[in-house]
Amino acid sequence: MTGYKLSLALVLLAVVPALHACGGKNVPSGSGGKPATVIADSEPDPLKGLKLYLGYCFVCHGQKGDGKGPYAPMLSADPADFTDSTHFKARTDGELYNFISKGGIAHGKSMHMKPFGFQMTPDQIQNTIAYIRVLNRHERISRDKESDFNGEEIYRNSCVMCHGEKGNGDGRISKMLGLEVRPISPESLSQHSGAKLYNIIQDGIPSDTTGLGRFMPAWGSSLSEKEIIDVISYISSF
Ligand code: HEC
Ligand code: HEC
Repeated sequence: MTGYKLSLALVLLAVVPALHACGGKNVPSGSGGKPATVIADSEPDPLKGLKLYLGYCFVCHGQKGDGKGPYAPMLSADPADFTDSTHFKARTDGELYNFISKGGIAHGKSMHMKPFGFQMTPDQIQNTIAYIRVLNRHERISRDKESDFNGEEIYRNSCVMCHGEKGNGDGRISKMLGLEVRPISPESLSQHSGAKLYNIIQDGIPSDTTGLGRFMPAWGSSLSEKEIIDVISYISSF
């Protein structure tokens, strides 16, 4: 049993009565610098974490997690390099949870690391941490199992933060960083063939071909063929 699973099991043991009391909802607790006690509904899933990571964290921490995201050169502090195993060995999951949920300022660190507790659920943060651990171990994630997400859920996990609720380009990450994201509409989509659309999503948009502020992560490592097709059919309904 890994240390993480062990600590999760201990947390679960301690909170099972509390879970019954509050209907099984996630309740992160702990304040200030104290690590939060975090309850997960299910085992954290690094593949779900990758889908969220690419949406929320890629811009600064990079497609590979090495801290070299397309937005990183704009910042006054270097985003953490998740492939630095030594650094992250010293961090508990509780500490990471707190940092991600409350942000840099609350921990005397850079303001560029925002408090994601306002836009991500506790489960989503847990899944993202599970993926950060995969990066810490220099492993690759396997996409062998079919996802249980439909097109709308994929959009909400991985696309809404940039493209916005209705594809207007006004998602929270875009607004926060001033990214320019052209609205998605039936007209804009019809400018691409189906195969081209598929490739844009699979391969992403590297920043150097589009100029500053127009970049998209590559989704080929996190979404299956079926998921890419499902999400295309969802965005076609805007
Ligand atoms: C706008 C840029 C930006 C985004 C987006 C961003 N980060 Fe960060 N992050 C930073 C910067 C800059 C630091 C370094 C802070 C410092 O050392 O002062 C950092 C540091 C961290 C650390 C600290 C690790 C440590 O122990 O030193 C963690 C963990 C982290 N980020 C996780 C995330 C996760 C997870 C996401 C997505 C949900 C995310 N970040 C999104 C910029 C960003
Ligand atoms: C980090 C921000 C970001 C995320 C997350 C993101 N995109 Fe994008 N996407 C962009 C940007 C920027 C463009 C370029 C828009 C432009 O040309 O102005 C783009 C372009 C596109 C296009 C081409 C649109 C057109 O009219 O040419 C499609 C399709 C698309 N994204 C789908 C997705 C899907 C599906 C997801 C989720 C799986 C996603 N994007 C997640 C930033 C993002």
